[in-house]
Amino acid sequence: MWGGRFALGVGPSDALDALNRSLPVDHRLWPQDIAASKAWVHALGRARVLSASEEAQLLAGLDRVGDRLADGAAVGAPDEDVHTLVERLLYQEIGAVAGKLHTGRSRNDQVATDLRLWTLDAIDQLDAGVAALGRALVSRAQGGLDALLPGYTHGQRAQPVRWGYVLLAHAWPLVRDRQRLADARRRTAELPLGSGALAGSGFPVDRVLLKEALGFRAVSSNALDATGDRDFVAEVLFAIALTGVHLSRLGAELIGYASGELGFVTLSDAFSTGSSLMPQKRNPDVFELARGKAGRLLGDCVALLATLKGLPAGYQKDLQEDKALLFDACDTLALVLPAVTGAIETLTIHPERMAAALDPAMRATDLADLLVEAGVPFRESHGLVGRLVRAAEDAGVALDQVAPDVAAAIHPALATAVTQLGTWERSVESRATLGGASRASMESQIEELRRAFAPGGNA
Ligand code: ARG
Repeated sequence: MWGGRFALGVGPSDALDALNRSLPVDHRLWPQDIAASKAWVHALGRARVLSASEEAQLLAGLDRVGDRLADGAAVGAPDEDVHTLVERLLYQEIGAVAGKLHTGRSRNDQVATDLRLWTLDAIDQLDAGVAALGRALVSRAQGGLDALLPGYTHGQRAQPVRWGYVLLAHAWPLVRDRQRLADARRRTAELPLGSGALAGSGFPVDRVLLKEALGFRAVSSNALDATGDRDFVAEVLFAIALTGVHLSRLGAELIGYASGELGFVTLSDAFSTGSSLMPQKRNPDVFELARGKAGRLLGDCVALLATLKGLPAGYQKDLQEDKALLFDACDTLALVLPAVTGAIETLTIHPERMAAALDPAMRATDLADLLVEAGVPFRESHGLVGRLVRAAEDAGVALDQVAPDVAAAIHPALATAVTQLGTWERSVESRATLGGASRASMESQIEELRRAFAPGGNA
């Protein structure tokens, strides 16, 4: 395909060929390569570079090539990449007129176009998977309004919260993930085709028409930039990496809750794994792998940025590395999302174990707040309750069981405050600010999240 300037019969060495070939990775771009090639044929026809009959032959030939590729023609093919494969098959189908397809086009604008088309689909599929997980979290949160458990910071029991509230804390990051994907999508939908190798096409193709035909939002503004621009890959890899980090954090949280010691949740049989040695084990592999795969997703993102950082404008062969990284990240996230979603949908919660973990010491903030209501400045009340905590520890009793005279000796209002504590439910309801753990706050969050994760479309 590019051998004309080299000595006849001397092809690239096996070693170079092995290094240079991208077909084993980029063969999956064939549907995009066919679609973009057909649009290109139309554009060449409109520009009168092709006759009507040539246009018709090329289009019919490309359809037949598509059929053959759908039947597995790429498997074991010897070609350098998907673009040369498609062109070779086209020759087999329609003969010499196939040689007119590449008029005014370069593999540089071609591969950028194919990959953008592929990425647009991938974004939509990943987005649907993230939304499905969001819906699972929200629906389990709705059912988890009444179960109260310790909310943790620093791994320490801090204040009581609702189980559903914890799930919502992992749902909101997914809203942001979808916003990032939608944002990346906008910039991915810029058409490079018609950029030629670096300086534009030598034939008067209508790029606006190409943009419409291929479903792009805009036409790229500078051919040198457009052929070397992989910002869209970097953006999607970052959006995926951060989504992976979010799934990792969700996984880490649930691994803890599924432990024998906490026992707040049990994974369903369908989403648990056993041990080959220890018959009693019910392992949360699904969440461990969600956590583990995040490292790999971060690696894909960093590897692409490292590949890009030294490159001048325009196409450089280094850019061929983009696809392996992007495909790996998309495949990995597509593997993790449904598994995590299924595990969330089917896990059992144990509200009694959650309730049993509610330590009265977690009422310390409530006591400090009650003292504030009695007119004690917060900093002072914090110190007074701290002394009560120490007294409880010294006496070996729960915070709400300290003898009234001991509490009163610390501060007269403290003994009264202890009697005013009320239920755990009341403690949770006392934090009724927007976004807090109260029932009303949760209900409005659930409503908002239901809209955000509704099937179909992502603004
Ligand atoms: N296989 C190449 C890639 O994936 C296609 C573009 C090659 N362009 C070139 N001028 N060698 O990036």
